[in-house]
Amino acid sequence: MCGIVAAVTTRDDIVSEVLTGLKTLEYRGYDSAGVAVPDQNQIHLRRRMGKISALEQELKDNALPKASSAVAHTRWATHGAPSDRNAHPHMDDAKEIVLVHNGIIENYAELRARLQADGHEFSSDTDTEVLVNLIAFHRRKNSIDLHQAVQLALKEVHGAYAIVVLSPLEPDTLIVARVDSPLVVGLSENGQFAASDMPALLHLTREFLILENGESAVLRPDVVTLFDADGNPTQRESFFCEWTPEQAEKGGYPHFMLKEIEEQPDVLARTAFDRFHDETGDVIFEPAFAFSEDDLIGLERIRFMAMGTSFHSALLGQQMMAELAAVPGTTLNASEFLYSPKLDEANTLTVILSQSGETADSLRAMREVQSRGGRILGICNVQGSTLAREADGLVLTHCGPEVGVASTKAFFGQLTALYLLAIHIGRARGHLSSKQGRDLLHDLRALRPKLDGLFHAETQACVKAAADYLAGVSSCLFLGRGFQFPIALEGALKLKEISYIHAEGYPAGEMKHGPIALIAEDFPVIAIATPGRTYQKMLSNMEEVRARKGKVIAVGVHGDTQVQAQADFFLPVPDVPELLAPMVNVIPLQQLSYQVALKLGRDIDQPRNLAKSVTVE
Ligand code: BG6
Repeated sequence: MCGIVAAVTTRDDIVSEVLTGLKTLEYRGYDSAGVAVPDQNQIHLRRRMGKISALEQELKDNALPKASSAVAHTRWATHGAPSDRNAHPHMDDAKEIVLVHNGIIENYAELRARLQADGHEFSSDTDTEVLVNLIAFHRRKNSIDLHQAVQLALKEVHGAYAIVVLSPLEPDTLIVARVDSPLVVGLSENGQFAASDMPALLHLTREFLILENGESAVLRPDVVTLFDADGNPTQRESFFCEWTPEQAEKGGYPHFMLKEIEEQPDVLARTAFDRFHDETGDVIFEPAFAFSEDDLIGLERIRFMAMGTSFHSALLGQQMMAELAAVPGTTLNASEFLYSPKLDEANTLTVILSQSGETADSLRAMREVQSRGGRILGICNVQGSTLAREADGLVLTHCGPEVGVASTKAFFGQLTALYLLAIHIGRARGHLSSKQGRDLLHDLRALRPKLDGLFHAETQACVKAAADYLAGVSSCLFLGRGFQFPIALEGALKLKEISYIHAEGYPAGEMKHGPIALIAEDFPVIAIATPGRTYQKMLSNMEEVRARKGKVIAVGVHGDTQVQAQADFFLPVPDVPELLAPMVNVIPLQQLSYQVALKLGRDIDQPRNLAKSVTVE
């Protein structure tokens, strides 16, 4: 999954603004980058393997001419290893057209063979270079304009794409199109822009236009012409993005991940506090929620689907739904659902969680459920994303842009939204009384001030001590029970994602049935042992680890001497109701992974091989 930024303006030189936008997209892919501008019937192209900083050095050594339009790209390799020649943008072999692409052209090999037979030459291993030559082929063969050539070429393409095409043959013109990969158009008085997501353009505009699947558009400095999937001109309302440019910046933090970990108390307030009545104990979602009380009363089961960190919040969502609304549920990796047998979708609600709203597996699963007659509630963090637009109902988490590749505040926002959803359904179905609703919502409001302690120096000192030790091991186990089991999974994922230390999350009761064989002096266990129905069992599990000389890093409430007695390292957390403890307990585990990765000198915001959301299956 890659990042695209492009502009066509009335300004003298737009390249530096385009590169500023590209840098906010680096979390989408960071193995090579490039930029191209038109100038006097020529395309000027600069590409470099590595981070955007390598491209900036190239531009210092070999400057581009000033230009009022430009296309730029940062890459996450799918076809063709990271290298200068596989970096985007790609030109056709006549160097008349240049293109940037995010997605996968599945039938590129056969198209390439056909174009080679027609005399086209290729200088890279990418699927993208095939597409730009196919556009050139159609433009020349049919003597048509660039937009028509793009439309003809895309008719032959199978796969996912978001593209921006530019050619000095048609100055002051960008052609954009998308299927399945995200692309937004930014509107302003002195130019039009396109990008893979909104944060890339917030320094230029906050007015956006969404391209639906299969649509294309012609961008000129003063106007955008939209075309539907059949190539007919169409219109659409633009919308105003609530995010500020500052939100998309690091704000003085060394890493986006640390900034986003520390934003979580605000995420709680922004996602929840204007969505419930303290007096009635009722949750009020926006009209976009779209599911009526009757819909909720008639439910027989809820299916949760997601990928990555969102999958862990989905597991907790299922538990919260059983606890607060007595609705049975299942939770699947969206990628597993696609090939599962067809079951009756009647009286079933499917909840899809996705921070980005663009993860290909989750979107495919959504469309598969809808094609089977089912209905989707999307829980998502990105206004205007594909999930937000195509789901039958929507709950937005108001986390602001999440830039760190390892998800933190979005997970917290999802747990907050799921807690509200469970109360809402529990109230609608009469499983929760008004008083119970009031108490649960009171607990949520009371949680905010309790979170601040997690960022205090003395708590951080405990995290750093445990991290210094953990940075020295090669493998470990995270254990939790009940509501804390998904947090054990999430803690393990965070450590894997950013420190590259092998870690597994396990339901603690399962330890004796296998993983206990791994316990040894150099194989630590991170145990989540906060008060609740599984507390005593967790204490026993920690004793079992210590009996085999295993080191224990324990998450426990302040002053809990029983847990401290079993722990080599103690991560103190505030004492909160059991159902809210996952939102608290995940924070020291995020901080632990951050400190371990820091100690190991890892690239925390852009860990190797990962990308923020994977828009290809
Ligand atoms: C991965 C990200 O690519 O996708 C994870 O690195 C994320 O952080 C996962 O949890 C799912 O993404 P989303 O946007 O669907 O929640």
